[in-house]
Amino acid sequence: MSIASNGYQSGFGNEFATEAVPGALPVGRNSPQKVAHGLYAEQLSGTAFTAPRGYNRRSWLYRIRPAAMHGEFAPFEQPRFHNLFGHEPVTPDQLRWNPLPLPGADGNAAPVDFVDGLFTMAGNGYPAAHSGVAIHLYAANASMQGRYFYDADGELLIVPQQGRLVIATELGVLEVEPQEIAVIPRGVRFRVDLPDGPSRGYVCENFGGLLRLPDLGPIGSNGLANPRDFLTPHAAYEDLEGDFELIAKFQGHLWRAPIGHSPLDVVAWHGNHAPYKYDLRRFNTIGSISFDHPDPSIFLVLHSPSDTPGTSNMDFAIFPPRWLVAQDTFRPPWFHRNVASEFMGLVHGAYDAKAEGFAPGGCSLHNCMTGHGPDAATFDKASSADLSKPDVITDTMAFMFETRSVIAPTRQAMDAGHRQRDYQACWAGLQKHFTPPG
Ligand SMILES: [Fe+2]
Repeated sequence: MSIASNGYQSGFGNEFATEAVPGALPVGRNSPQKVAHGLYAEQLSGTAFTAPRGYNRRSWLYRIRPAAMHGEFAPFEQPRFHNLFGHEPVTPDQLRWNPLPLPGADGNAAPVDFVDGLFTMAGNGYPAAHSGVAIHLYAANASMQGRYFYDADGELLIVPQQGRLVIATELGVLEVEPQEIAVIPRGVRFRVDLPDGPSRGYVCENFGGLLRLPDLGPIGSNGLANPRDFLTPHAAYEDLEGDFELIAKFQGHLWRAPIGHSPLDVVAWHGNHAPYKYDLRRFNTIGSISFDHPDPSIFLVLHSPSDTPGTSNMDFAIFPPRWLVAQDTFRPPWFHRNVASEFMGLVHGAYDAKAEGFAPGGCSLHNCMTGHGPDAATFDKASSADLSKPDVITDTMAFMFETRSVIAPTRQAMDAGHRQRDYQACWAGLQKHFTPPG
């Protein structure tokens, strides 16, 4: 069960204003000499100060203590969560993994929270360049206790696959369930609670341009992900003191500092830079009603632009339930090779290009110019399907993180026990059908 949408503010990148205590928000100025109720004013910038107005993101926070107050940072060890990719040759093979095992599957009963449960799969670029992404999985079974986290290296696009997440952030609380996503801006501090216990999902750490809605071109003024379905929390705060820890990810490494209070102490805020959630089931899926497929960019939910017009640092696309009605058309996704690189995951149900082997919680990686497409069983079935009737695809929610740069798997992903060493065999059964005339 999600919190009712009226618990949120609706819109994408809107100028929101919210206060958990009446009168906490200053009127007519951002940083008055004295903020009401003894609060401190602090600006959080998500873009360059001089970014064009349509791209500029920043918020003003009114908080009990400024973010500067914490102890000294020291290195923090979580060896499975890092940005160690791209330092060794990348195989051009197709790659696929089974779901990351949940904590306890190996007999170890120790609790694992969201930060400890992160496992870095792959990535490209580097935070210092403000370009590229890191792709992580998480598998956890415990809420974060006395611990808060922030990522200075990028915004976090979180895609739960099993179990709800209650993400308490500086700017309010997001509750997300599988088939919803959450985006936490770079630097925003948060804590993750797991109300359902064992939980699993995917995280795209975006070092590049902030995620935004795509332009719609000839589609018109409606369709795909509609702005009003993006939900941002109202202000909510903790006034807590204790021996807590603040975990930071900075330049690919993890750090830990003691902090004597909860950093989730923002009583009021205004601005357009804030966490948000979106229900993927609200995506208005558009496709062909005559023949052939549009390119998968028709399934684009959000994208991180690069410096090259029309070429994203990262595209987040989904493959939701839909009707396939195209005539004289091979209806599943076709065989293809792209200049872009594709990391796919499956949140729910089955994916229509693969008969088996791609389980919810699993993932695949098809890099630049690596051939891929339907497996032999799917090809045979779709090649002889009755096209006089529509195919109604229900119970599915697959997604793709697609990037302009090659996605380099980590050593731990290549060595992982859950990697499918036999993935290429799914195409081995494709038969030669060519029969030249005469
Ligand atoms: Fe593909």
